[in-house]
Amino acid sequence: MKVILAKTAGFCFGVQRAVDTVYQELSRQDGGPIYTYGPIIHNEEVIKDMKKHGAVVLRSEEELDAVTDGTVIIRSHGVEKRIYDKLEEKHVSIVDATCPYVKKIHKIVQKESSLGNAVIIVGNPKHPEVQGIRGWAGKEAAIVQNAEDIEKLSIKNDKKVCVVAQTTFNYKKFQDLVEIIREKSYDIIVLNTICNATKERQTEARRIAEEADAMIVIGDKHSSNTQKLFEICAKACDDTYYIQTLDDLNWNQLGSVETVGITAGASTPNKIIEEVQKMSELSFEQMLDESFKTIHNGEVVEGTVIDVKPDEIILNIGYKADGIITKNEYSNDSSLDLTTVVSVGDAMTVKVLKVNDGEGQVLLTYKRLAAEKSNERLKEAFENKEVLKATVTQILGGGLCAEVEGVRVFIPASLVSDSYEKDLSKYDGKEIEFVISEFNPRRNRVIGDRRQLLVAERAEKQRELFARLQVGDTIEGVVKNVTDFGAFVDLGGVDGLLHISEMSWGRVENPKKVFKVGDNLKVLVKDINDTKVALSLKFPETNPWAHASEDFAVGSVITGRVARMTDFGAFVELAPGVDALLHVSQISRAHVDKPSDVLSIGQEIQAKIVDLNEADKKISLSMKAIEMAEPADAQ
Ligand code: F3S
Repeated sequence: MKVILAKTAGFCFGVQRAVDTVYQELSRQDGGPIYTYGPIIHNEEVIKDMKKHGAVVLRSEEELDAVTDGTVIIRSHGVEKRIYDKLEEKHVSIVDATCPYVKKIHKIVQKESSLGNAVIIVGNPKHPEVQGIRGWAGKEAAIVQNAEDIEKLSIKNDKKVCVVAQTTFNYKKFQDLVEIIREKSYDIIVLNTICNATKERQTEARRIAEEADAMIVIGDKHSSNTQKLFEICAKACDDTYYIQTLDDLNWNQLGSVETVGITAGASTPNKIIEEVQKMSELSFEQMLDESFKTIHNGEVVEGTVIDVKPDEIILNIGYKADGIITKNEYSNDSSLDLTTVVSVGDAMTVKVLKVNDGEGQVLLTYKRLAAEKSNERLKEAFENKEVLKATVTQILGGGLCAEVEGVRVFIPASLVSDSYEKDLSKYDGKEIEFVISEFNPRRNRVIGDRRQLLVAERAEKQRELFARLQVGDTIEGVVKNVTDFGAFVDLGGVDGLLHISEMSWGRVENPKKVFKVGDNLKVLVKDINDTKVALSLKFPETNPWAHASEDFAVGSVITGRVARMTDFGAFVELAPGVDALLHVSQISRAHVDKPSDVLSIGQEIQAKIVDLNEADKKISLSMKAIEMAEPADAQ
């Protein structure tokens, strides 16, 4: 029988750290009783062993409240902030074994909440990790695990929204839910906080299950990550067995298979995996033996720091020889003193450079693995079109540079903004968002694109605006550009045209003399045609013709200014938008050949209104009528 043992089987980094922490504390036993708040991992075998060594599991908050002394260990799932506060008030020692990845989420949501932003946690609301995260995320935090939950969200639209995920949440489902959240039109920042350990374990399990004739999944029945692992394997391989310990396995069922795969959940101790191995020693002893005792060049291994000097770190990597990381393989900073960044007891993930360096040690690298991981992270971001946030570190002639996880991302000037940017220096030191549009680590070429985000954001704003905008609405806008024929007004994502003829009820000679870029205007939506919006400042309530019969009553004498002249008469402006005709025959009792013989443009005159046609917006004037009345008045 061929056996394939998953490299990722068993404890993840966070669980291993929590379990080690408990045993370290138990070995001390100098500060009173040792409690764990909740079972430290989902594995009854391990919990039993811890109890045997003196650990007491507190299974509820009431039990925690009853603690008066000793040490309380926080498990890898983490807890709400108020639990820390409570323990501090009691002066009980706290040993925090929260997984650093979970702790990072606490910090993110605490910061976002303190900035007044809303937080959405994508995850199972009943899971202790999710409850713990919510405890750091402020009152407005919401937990969603499906589309219905998102539908019920009632976050105000003016809030920024930060979206994080439970570390063990399904990545594809997370992406789908983020898309639905985006449809709510929130201003969102998405942070993929899903732990790679889970994804890697699941990916490897699926691959092995597809290859194997039978698959063994080892883990506690209450462990959600093991259940998920089982589901994945069962889909790929019909003969999949979910066991907690060796006793659950019926070896006869495996008698006829040629290839068997083994994986285990994050809470499964190596001891149990080894027991499964031993039982089948006769058939695959050599293979499992190799998988535990051999390391290869290029392999990624976990280790614990056993000694650190300014220029080298010695690691126990579970191999017959210890591993060594030189300063050069830790960092590019040649002035770095390694004792200031690494301590004895630290766990490290490293890559084997050379199994035997000639002096019986294993040469390891931390730096190259970190670079690979960063590239991996950027590759994932590139493939998922993930929005990244980073600070601009350098302004170059042709664009900007930002750094993501130690990798330089170049954003060409043409992709910095959705409009031409002459001076990029304003971005120096600023945090910006972008997606990776080209990823080629071999050529050291990682290109960022901020423009497409701005274009999408603008399109979204346009969609929103067009959905609510109606002809007849009054809306505020800012003048963006002024031309000879009108002004373009930014209505918040959409530009509307205020044509010269719509700028006033009167006549506007030159828009540039009336408006300037940046002016705030209240405008009337006159027409919407596809994506074109026509604006007007001719509000009905200010229409000078609305009260024409009163303001320009026939028989009344008015004062106006000559606006223009033709051979047959002069047009006199009575009010902005109201021009009246003074026919050449009505200028004087004396014969006038042409209006320009006696009148000039801009001249103020007095005339009598002799006719008003409201329907055609026509008014006729006569100066002669006043002249003719004068002798009679004088007598
Ligand atoms: Fe931590 Fe990931 Fe394990 S978040 S607890 S390392 S699954």
